[in-house]
Amino acid sequence: MLNFDFYNPTHIIFGKDRLDEIDKNTPAGAKVLITYGGGSAKKSGLIDKVKTALGKRKIFEFGGIEPNPRYETLMKAVEVVKNENIDFLLAVGGGSAIDGTKFISLASFYKGDASDLLKFGLSTIPPEVTGKAVPIGTVLTLPATGSEMNCGAVISYGHGKFSVLCALTFPRYSILDPTLTFTLPEIQVANGIIDAFVHTTEQYLTFPVDGRVQDRIAEGILQTLIEIGKTTVSEPQNYGARANHVWCATLALNGIVGAGVPQDWATHMIGHELTAMFGIDHGQTLAIILPALLEVRRDKKRAKLLQYAERVWHIDSGSEEAKIDLAIRKTREFFESLGVKTRLSQHGVGAEKIPALVEQLKAHGMTALSETGDLTPDISQKILETAM
Ligand code: NZQ
Ligand code: ZN
Repeated sequence: MLNFDFYNPTHIIFGKDRLDEIDKNTPAGAKVLITYGGGSAKKSGLIDKVKTALGKRKIFEFGGIEPNPRYETLMKAVEVVKNENIDFLLAVGGGSAIDGTKFISLASFYKGDASDLLKFGLSTIPPEVTGKAVPIGTVLTLPATGSEMNCGAVISYGHGKFSVLCALTFPRYSILDPTLTFTLPEIQVANGIIDAFVHTTEQYLTFPVDGRVQDRIAEGILQTLIEIGKTTVSEPQNYGARANHVWCATLALNGIVGAGVPQDWATHMIGHELTAMFGIDHGQTLAIILPALLEVRRDKKRAKLLQYAERVWHIDSGSEEAKIDLAIRKTREFFESLGVKTRLSQHGVGAEKIPALVEQLKAHGMTALSETGDLTPDISQKILETAM
């Protein structure tokens, strides 16, 4: 097992009817800015319930954080934080609202040009860069990203998507009430299953380091997602299935799966370019790239792919090649069973677009990806070709 630090201070408040607990977990007398997305939380009445839970505190609202939150939008909220001396941010929504709020939290204390905060890549931003961050709480409405229990954010700027990781932006608390996700459209639920699945594989389908408990946690998450995936998409009010979906998504990216094991993230980095160039939802980009990446990288990932085939898909017979083939095919079929396309061409993206995608990867410094750092632009090109 590799050396690791594990730090995660987020208080999870899980279950039905727990919005009232916002009150005791938010500093008394705080001036609170509620941040949210395009209006789903307003329409469902959730924002009003959150305001009621905040009681007599002075409340401001900032709506309109778009999916794949944009720097320019978030900087408008930074103005509100500064002008109104906001001292607590309460994000209500999915990964985009929460990620955007993390960026607002950091940018509000950064002295220079806040776009500097987008230049750290997958390295964490040292706390002294901003010195402070506005504390954050969240009310999660979409189980997918794990943003409710991690310190990461992904921000869109220009023609790219940029990771922002800083220990100061772990939420203080997150309310995870599965019933708040019942209003999600089917496709967003499917996206959420796939995002959680691929967060897990990015930290599991690498090479063995004898991280036995990490492997078994990862396999438990993958098997649970496979078990409940179709049900939670087709039965939106099935509490048991959705509760398991929510907790899987949180566990998949709160640091526990990836502690002490190699991590890949190439599927995510290539997927980000598909979102930036064609506006394809995050989860759907992963469903396109992961099966193709596993095919192209099958020799590098051989030992873990066999373990995945045997332990997650219970494939016990056949040659090693046949087991790996079947595991990749079952992965693709699982995504498709949720109603998600797994080919670039099905999104109307032709092979002639691949060189431009590879150029964008280069422009964003994504030239040495994967758990071994040897996934070059040429290999990304091969993965994209395999994904056609
Ligand atoms: O904006 P509103 O009107 O709220 O509608 C949203 C949005 O259109 C809607 N929605 C959310 N909750 C709903 C709902 N509609 C009805 N009922 C509800 N309860 O769903 C749409 C998508 O929301 P979004 O927040 O964009 O989705 P998601 O949670 O999948 O977040 C995606 C973003 O997270 C980033 C992605 O790159 C992308 O920008 N990621 C963040 C990560 C992290 N912080 O650790 C890791 C991930 O890998 C990912 O990259
Ligand atoms: Zn993701």
